[in-house]
Order: sequence, then structure tokens, then C-alpha cells
Amino acid sequence: MTGPMVAVGGAGAGPSPSPPRIPASGDGTSVKAAEVDLSTSYLGRSLASPLVAAASPLTGDPDELRRLGEAGVGAVVLPSLFEEEVLAEEVGFAAAVEQGSGVFHEAVEYFPDLSAEKGVADRYLARLERAKAEVGVPVIASLNATSSGGWTRYARLLGRAGADALELNLYFISADPSRSAADIESEQLELVREVRSEAGVPVAVKLSPFYTAMANFARQVTGAGASGIVVFNRFYQPDIDLETMAVLPEVTLSRSADLGLPLRWTAILRPLLPPNVSIGLTSGVHTGSDVVKAVAVGADVVMVASELLAKGPTRLRALEAELREWLSGQGYSSIGQLRGSVSAASAEDPEAFERANYMKTLRSFELLGR
Ligand SMILES: Cc1cc2nc3c(=O)[nH]c(=O)nc-3n(C[C@H](O)[C@H](O)[C@H](O)COP(=O)(O)O)c2cc1C
Repeated sequence: MTGPMVAVGGAGAGPSPSPPRIPASGDGTSVKAAEVDLSTSYLGRSLASPLVAAASPLTGDPDELRRLGEAGVGAVVLPSLFEEEVLAEEVGFAAAVEQGSGVFHEAVEYFPDLSAEKGVADRYLARLERAKAEVGVPVIASLNATSSGGWTRYARLLGRAGADALELNLYFISADPSRSAADIESEQLELVREVRSEAGVPVAVKLSPFYTAMANFARQVTGAGASGIVVFNRFYQPDIDLETMAVLPEVTLSRSADLGLPLRWTAILRPLLPPNVSIGLTSGVHTGSDVVKAVAVGADVVMVASELLAKGPTRLRALEAELREWLSGQGYSSIGQLRGSVSAASAEDPEAFERANYMKTLRSFELLGR
């Protein structure tokens, strides 16, 4: 067989795309790239740039954080504090006290000196304070959790320690056949309500793409008090090592091809959610063009992890420059003029984001080299 078997359909198929439209709010006068206004608002905060460093090991490192600040990042999301870490520590503490009290009733000095040892939550709070000092832009703390309960008081600690906002990551694999979607969703909504009421700062909820009724759930999440949603979590898929037949937990970096899913859902959700609810788009943002697309479908901020992990914080400068060049080249003087101009409410063909386009796209698929 020679050459590629198939051509890419979908975006590449059909009539050539129409030229960019200057939204009615844009005045179309030419503005130098350096002068384009990139300011945006996210979770009630004004940001100088829509480019946000998503939660990753990069944002957990003080030196990298400083570099991100120097590269013009709009805000940073710290790596998550996991519910399991907090609970494990609490269980460990209780067990240690229990053990000590059983053996030496009055000899408190035999208790392990847990107060002297910094626990996982303390370390996280210290990391938050350090991040605030290093980066000079809003710092969003992240909680990764699946269930409500007393542990959500940590949300309050993070809010009090100076987090500008919280991101609640609802990473969950629903592998228990006895639990229905409704059960899981109602538990997650309870968690959102609890974290919201504890936090004292705005809360964004980072969703996975695996909800049957995404639009409905996203609306319920904001109804439960979330000031924003982040679409989408990337799920790390295990692989199998064929030598040892062991399951390998794989963390692979994304590609621009991964952008399609959050792009579609941001476009659909933007007009369905109240205008004061922020949307952060994450997954598959690698180029300035990716950033333009994300904002065009309605993202308030565009979150980047893989690209920065691969190329370092200075890549952010290049992304910003590409974004500025594009905006200025198309006659935009601010990013606000672009935002949402291709959401499901304003796109020339809103059905392009929904099922109606499915059959057309499949039919447009062309076989090559035959
Ligand atoms: C190594 C690594 C660690 C991550 N850690 C977290 C985390 O602690 N909390 C979280 O919510 N997301 C975490 N993420 C997900 C990213 O924040 C981001 O949402 C995801 O990677 C998609 O963006 P990307 O395509 O730019 O990588 C992590 C991603 C990577 C690659």
C-alpha cells in the first residue's frame, strides 16, 4: 500500500473556512501586537493575560513559578492537594495517638511528635505562601476530591492562607456498578456546596468529559455555588508492559489534537451558563492558534500544562506573542472582542458543535491513494 490510507475529514473537509469575522464590538482599526489588550477576568479577578499555568509539577516548583511570572503568566494553579493524602494523614495521626495512649497513659512525651513534623496540608499551605511571594499574579490552590466530609475544612485553610481562588478537581472513575450516575452526581454536587461554603474564596470546578448529561451537570455545578468551571481534566490511561504484563500508570503529555473536546464543550456551555460564570479551558493547548480557538469559543482563561512541561515556562512568552500577532493581524484591539465569537450562540453554524454535524463529517471523509 502506498501513501496514507485516508485523508482527514472534519475540520479539513468541505468548503474552505470563511475569513475571520471582526465582531461588531471591534472597531477594526489596526493596533500594534504589543498594544492589544489581553486583560480578562476569571473567578472575579482581573488578569493581565488569559494564559494560565494549569496544575502540574511546574507550578509546584518555586523557581519555575518565578519564571512563569517573568514570562507573563496571568495566574497559576498549584498542583492538587488530594483528599486521600489528607485522610491518610488524619487516619495515621489518630492511629498514632491511639497506640501511644494505649501503652503509656500519662507519658505524653512518648507520643510521636506530630506537631513538630509538617504534615501534607501544612506543606501545601507553605507552598501556597511561597507561590504567592514568587509569582506576583493570582494563585489558585487545587483540591482533588471525590467525596464530601469533614476533610473539606482544608478548603477554609487554603482560603485563609491567601489562595485567590480554589480549583476543585472532581477526578473520578465510576467503576462501581451499584452506583448510578445520579448517585455520583448528587455526591459531587454536595462536595461542591461544602467546599464553596468552607472556602471563603471563589471556587472553580474542574470537570471530566465523562458525564452523560454534561450541559445539565455543568449548570448544576454552578447552581451549587461554583463561580467557574474548568473543562476538561485529562484522564491518565494505564498501559500494559508486555514483558512483565504489569499495569503501567502512564502520564503522557497532550497534543493539539486533544483540544477538540474542550473546544466543543466550551462552545456549547458558554451560552448556557450565566455570563458571570467563568470558563477555563484546559487540554491540548500548545500553540498561539490553540489559544485563539479557545478564546473564540468562549474561554475566559486558557490553561496550559503539557506545553510548558515540555518546553519550559519561557514558552508562555511565545504563546502570548503568537496570540497578539493573530489578534492584531485580524484587527482586534482587545481579546474581549474575540471571546465567544464562535460559541454555539454566535457561530455561523452552531450545529457544527452538536450531533447534526456528525453524519456530514463522516460522509466528508475521503479515501486517499486509491
Ligand atoms: C504531570 C502532570 C501533573 C498534573 N497534576 C495535576 C494536579 O495535581 N491537579 C490537577 O487538577 N491537574 C493536574 N494535571 C492536569 C493539568 O492541570 C491539565 O489539566 C492537563 O494536563 C491538560 O492540559 P495540557 O493538555 O495542557 O497538559 C497534571 C498534568 C500533568 C501532565
